[in-house]
Order: sequence, then C-alpha cells, then structure tokens
Amino acid sequence: MTDENLTRAADWLRLAERVCVLTGAGVSAESGVPTFRASDGLWEGHRIEDVASPDGFERDPALVWNFYNARRANVKTVTPNPGHHALAKLEARWGDRFTLVTQNVDGLHRAAGSKKVLEIHGSLHRTRCLGCGKVEDRGLEPLGDAPECPHCHGQLRPDIVWFGEALPEPIWEPAMLAAYECNVLLVIGTSAVVHPAASLIPIAKRRQLPVAKVIEINLTPTEASRHADVGLYGPSGEVLPKLVERLGAFGA
Ligand code: OAD
Repeated sequence: MTDENLTRAADWLRLAERVCVLTGAGVSAESGVPTFRASDGLWEGHRIEDVASPDGFERDPALVWNFYNARRANVKTVTPNPGHHALAKLEARWGDRFTLVTQNVDGLHRAAGSKKVLEIHGSLHRTRCLGCGKVEDRGLEPLGDAPECPHCHGQLRPDIVWFGEALPEPIWEPAMLAAYECNVLLVIGTSAVVHPAASLIPIAKRRQLPVAKVIEINLTPTEASRHADVGLYGPSGEVLPKLVERLGAFGA
C-alpha cells in the first residue's frame, strides 16, 4: 500500500456524504476465522455443496449441523480485530449515512460495536425453524446434530443463506440502496466472486454525477479490482486503522 493511495482514499472519504462498506471473510482472517476459498476447492475438508446447500441439508442434516456447530465453536473463541474496530469508528463518524454490508456470518462486526450491519448471508448465531419459520438468536452454544424448535418441535436449520438460495429481501434491498446512494464504497477482504453480493460493486458505479469511488482493501487484487479507483493492498487489520488515522478528526 503506497502512502499516496492512502491519502487519495482518505481524501475521497472526507468529502463523502454517504459511505457503504462491503466486507468478506478476509476482514475476520486476522481474528482467526478461516476464509473460504482454499486452493483445494474444499471448505474445511467438505465439498461446499454438501454443507452449504438446501440439497446437502436434506441429504444429511447431521453432517451440516456438525459442520456449523464446529464453525460456531470456533467463532466463540475469537474476538474482533483492529479492522472491525476501525469500521465501527467510521460508522460513528457518518452515523445513519454509513451502511456496513457483510457477507460474514460470524457476528464480529456487531461485537466490535458496529450497529447498522446488514448480514446478507445470515448469521451463525441464529436458527430458523422449517416448521413454524421462527428465526431465533441462539448464541453460540452447541446445538447438537439434530436440533428441534423449542416452540413447535420442527427441524431447525442454521439461518445462513446457502448456495442456490435467494438473499432475504428486507436485508438485500437496503444493501442495494446503500450501494447505489453512496459516494464511497469500501470493498474489504472479499474475493468478490459470489453473487449477488459482489454485484453491489457495479451497482455503486452505476449512479452518475457524481460517480462513487470504490476503494478496495485486500491482500491481493481480486475480481473487484477492475471497478476499484484505488487499491490498498495489505491486511485489513493494519490498513483500516491507518485509513482512519489518515482521515483525521471529524471536520478536519
Ligand atoms: P473468500 O474466502 O472468497 O475471500 C477472502 C478474501 O479475503 C480473499 O480475497 C483474500 O485475499 C482476502 N483476505 C484474506 N486475508 C485478508 C486480510 N487479512 N486482510 C484483507 N483481505 C484478506 O471469502 P468471501 O469473499 O467472503 O457464502 O466469500 C464470499 C462468500 O462465499 C461467503 O460469504 C460464503 C462463501 O461461500 C456463504 O456462506 C453463503
């Protein structure tokens, strides 16, 4: 990351009336949550379609629950890193005019103090009943491999958006609006290959006069890079606090 690029990014942010952020697994990597796309195409040793699709759950719900219980147990041991905290500081500066859209299901943005968080892929903390449809926050306590709904004894599933499923409209629509209305979109720690999440980047660029600036923060260039006006390449837990510092005090 060059000093010049950091200054450009901070200058755009200082002028921005509305800011939108899209985060992915990379923002939690320094907290100890593994990212998804390993070179072997497997996800913690499993084929993605076995553990993250409605068909996989229908075939073997116990396998899927064991997989998610392991991820929930991992998240229970981790804490937000300086990148999460820096994003909470940015929200404090813009208030309602700041929207954090995350693909992460680990809850670490909220744990760091971010308030307006749109979890477009769901949450490891929540379950959804296939019987009565109730969605509940169950924290990160172990749930076993065949949890039942405490209300109707229906089968519970993780409240996660799986491959082949639509994003929940009440969360996705405000995310698209925030991307469309922002003056700066920060794209952080995502490979930007999973849609529709990644389509927030061209959506931000669609508005004319003024066109939004896209700032990418990642270890390496990604699919998002061709839309980016500047890339700040390095660990987000280091880059984001530097960006907040360069931005300076409110009104500066
Ligand atoms: P990926 O695993 O595809 O990408 C993680 C990105 O983070 C990569 O571009 C890395 O270069 C970058 N990265 C890793 N460590 C970093 C660090 N310390 N600082 C900055 N960047 C870093 O994860 P996502 O893009 O989030 O969906 O994946 C998108 C979706 O695919 C996930 O939400 C999940 C998955 O299947 C569902 O579960 C529905």
